[in-house]
Amino acid sequence: MGTQLASTLAICTILFTITTLTPPGSSSPPEPPVKCTSHNTNCTVTNSYGNFTSDRSICRAGSVAYPATEAELISVVANGTRARRKMKVTTRFSHSMPKLVCPDGTDGLLISTKKLDRILEIDPVGLTATVQSGVLTGQLYDALARAGLALAHTPYLRALTVGGMISTHAHGSTFMAKGGAPSDYVVGVTIVSPGKKGEGYVKVRQLTEEDEELDAARVSLGVLGVISKITLKVEPLFKRSISFRKRSDTDLAHRAISFGRKHEFADISWYPYQHRAVYRNDDRAPLQVPGDGAYDFFPMRRALSSSSISSRATEEKIEAKEDAAKRCALAKDVLPLYYNSAYGFTNNGAYCRESVDCLFLLMKFNL
Ligand SMILES: Cc1cc2nc3c(=O)[nH]c(=O)nc-3n(C[C@H](O)[C@H](O)[C@H](O)COP(=O)(O)OP(=O)(O)OC[C@H]3O[C@@H](n4cnc5c(N)ncnc54)[C@H](O)[C@@H]3O)c2cc1C
Ligand SMILES: *[C@@H]1O[C@H](CO)[C@@H](O)[C@H](O)[C@H]1NC(C)=O
Ligand SMILES: *[C@@H]1O[C@H](CO)[C@@H](O)[C@H](O)[C@H]1NC(C)=O
Ligand SMILES: *[C@@H]1O[C@H](CO)[C@@H](O)[C@H](O)[C@H]1NC(C)=O
Repeated sequence: MGTQLASTLAICTILFTITTLTPPGSSSPPEPPVKCTSHNTNCTVTNSYGNFTSDRSICRAGSVAYPATEAELISVVANGTRARRKMKVTTRFSHSMPKLVCPDGTDGLLISTKKLDRILEIDPVGLTATVQSGVLTGQLYDALARAGLALAHTPYLRALTVGGMISTHAHGSTFMAKGGAPSDYVVGVTIVSPGKKGEGYVKVRQLTEEDEELDAARVSLGVLGVISKITLKVEPLFKRSISFRKRSDTDLAHRAISFGRKHEFADISWYPYQHRAVYRNDDRAPLQVPGDGAYDFFPMRRALSSSSISSRATEEKIEAKEDAAKRCALAKDVLPLYYNSAYGFTNNGAYCRESVDCLFLLMKFNL
């Protein structure tokens, strides 16, 4: 619940002035986070925004390696350790805003999981999925859905890597079951860390639920080694039933806990300035119930770079003038805009509104 709230607020702030949308097919994904002047050496690293949030900077690194197999990864870590280099793990797009990925100084070694992108096994009987750590969320959801399976909680971003997402304990929270973040569903990892000389400078650990080290490995912020592969607990595919309710925020603090206990995927978007909160009633539904849901939240659609640039310029102008009234006036538009389009949730093509239950197939949308 908390993370969803935080992300909704963040999205509001970043995207509230975006008005121009690009037709599908005419936009490009973010540039790769690592760029080097000569073949994989003398590099810079950043994130999917192109700058880190704290100081709008990028970082330097000596070189980058793109292992495609576990054996190559082991060799890269051993060589890096022998040469006493600082190593950090980077991913296909690197969504994290803080500088988690920066090695100290300019001669650090970046190890990218971009080529560790294979789904290794989906076990519909044991209800597990084993993937290389660079597999993207969308790739995993689609493969699971084809097997009639789903993750309990599916972050709405399709281009996170499984390794990056679990390493930061990103996305989702719930009072129910094992918890709401995908890292709560990790039942095994293989992690490659620096070793002693006698170990060949590398140590490979295969951790299962029996090992208490698994808890450290699954939310490691990338500082304990490179996760090579991950096994997640999955479950049979299910639908979700969703509707929204707008209320005054006067009893928000009191209501939040009981609301959270009542709905497995409960979500609250809070608009303090307008004294309003939007409650998302969000529960499991059997696969058989009719309804064809889709998630199409417009701030998540492709947008023209020029509209992002102009929205940023507007923000900076408001910021420079410390114009609180203007900021609040713009923020005021967000609630009706989002609410009237049901935060992008549609059922059989129509927006889900108050008291209209919406049904979603998890394979068709991602939260
Ligand atoms: C637009 C946007 C919206 C977001 N919304 C939310 C949200 O609602 N809720 C939320 O919780 N988060 C949110 N995030 C944050 C995002 O989910 C996390 O930062 C996530 O960790 C990014 O995954 P990534 O694959 O891009 O990993 P990266 O950002 O590249 O890596 C994350 C960390 O994990 C380490 N790492 C990556 N792979 C491995 C590996 N194989 N072995 C060891 N360490 C590794 C990296 O070194 C780094 O320290 C959002 C981010 C963006 C850009
Ligand atoms: C290394 O990259 C920087 C820019 O990031 C560049 O100015 C410098 O000339 C490069 N050095 C070499 C040796 O290529
Ligand atoms: C932010 O990123 C852009 C694009 O990568 C880069 O040109 C710019 O120099 C960065 N800003 C800083 C302060 O480094
Ligand atoms: C590691 O170092 C050895 C010996 O110098 C070399 O043969 C090997 O190619 C290196 N491996 C990688 C992945 O760089």
